[in-house]
Amino acid sequence: MQLLDGKLAAQAIKEDLKKKTSALQEQGKRSPHLAAILVGTDGASETYVASKVKTCAEIGFESTLKRFPSTISEEELLREIEELNNNADVDGILVQLPVPKHISDDKVINAIDPSKDVDGFHPVSVGNMVSGTPTFIPATPYGILLLLEHFKVETKGKHAVVIGRSHIVGTPMSILLSRKAYPGNCTVTICHSATTNLKEICLQGDIIVAALGQAEFLTADMVKEGAVIVDVGITRVADASKKSGFALKGDVKFDEVAPKSSAITPVPGGVGPMTIAGLLMNTYNAYMKKQ
Ligand SMILES: NC(=O)c1ccc[n+]([C@@H]2O[C@H](COP(=O)([O-])OP(=O)(O)OC[C@H]3O[C@@H](n4cnc5c(N)ncnc54)[C@H](OP(=O)(O)O)[C@@H]3O)[C@@H](O)[C@H]2O)c1
Repeated sequence: MQLLDGKLAAQAIKEDLKKKTSALQEQGKRSPHLAAILVGTDGASETYVASKVKTCAEIGFESTLKRFPSTISEEELLREIEELNNNADVDGILVQLPVPKHISDDKVINAIDPSKDVDGFHPVSVGNMVSGTPTFIPATPYGILLLLEHFKVETKGKHAVVIGRSHIVGTPMSILLSRKAYPGNCTVTICHSATTNLKEICLQGDIIVAALGQAEFLTADMVKEGAVIVDVGITRVADASKKSGFALKGDVKFDEVAPKSSAITPVPGGVGPMTIAGLLMNTYNAYMKKQ
């Protein structure tokens, strides 16, 4: 069994981007610049944004974090996005989702200039992805592609089973794994909460991407011998032995599935760090497109 170590793969990508950024600086150019918007004080969102900003600093990217109280109006937030759209020194814009209920996710996503849409959620980016035109791919599926590439996981001709059909993970993942490219060229089955024979389908999977958000859902009896397992899930489960009071669990029961698999991502340290790597790659690409 090979551990698909996301920390290791992300480190290689970050080192490469760091070298490229210092080369830009040596030429007297500015660094790629990511602007993040955080609304409210949700604990998980705070952690994700902090880690994105910290990683930017590590590799020499510039970053701006704009924080707003959860009482900000939709109109005001859209104005802030417009300001970033018009700022020529900003290459990538991300709004950490979810935003408070009185603000429309769709309006926020649609307000971002598609040339700065490093989260890849704008309909223009989604349309380009579906039609196979180079574009920003949502960070998590992009990170998974980079991970498969890093560990040279064979995908051509494989049956990939994706559990979950969200716009940020499952759906783009299923499209990308079926495209005519590497990583890709899989036959893909996408499953969701209305799938009736999930176990039967999973048992056919050469590659399983579990992205449903239910701790330790995928068990050994659902996985065939030698399958490649990508665990996207992150669920906080109460754990009194931890200082934080919770443990992070994936969607896969790692201890029993790992021995059956040929390769598997851990949680934490698998898809999580690769998501940040995907975001940084998108930001670098946004910068390069402008040059
Ligand atoms: N590692 C990372 O960087 C990263 C990034 C993003 C998300 N995540 C994690 O990945 C997980 C999924 O995130 P998400 O945003 O895609 O979640 P989501 O929007 O809640 O979507 C979950 C999907 O799973 C499906 N589902 C739920 N229960 C199911 C079941 N019992 N059987 C089959 N399908 C089921 C749902 O089906 P329906 O469509 O029918 O409701 C839905 O399509 C979460 O734990 C999230 O925290 C991790």
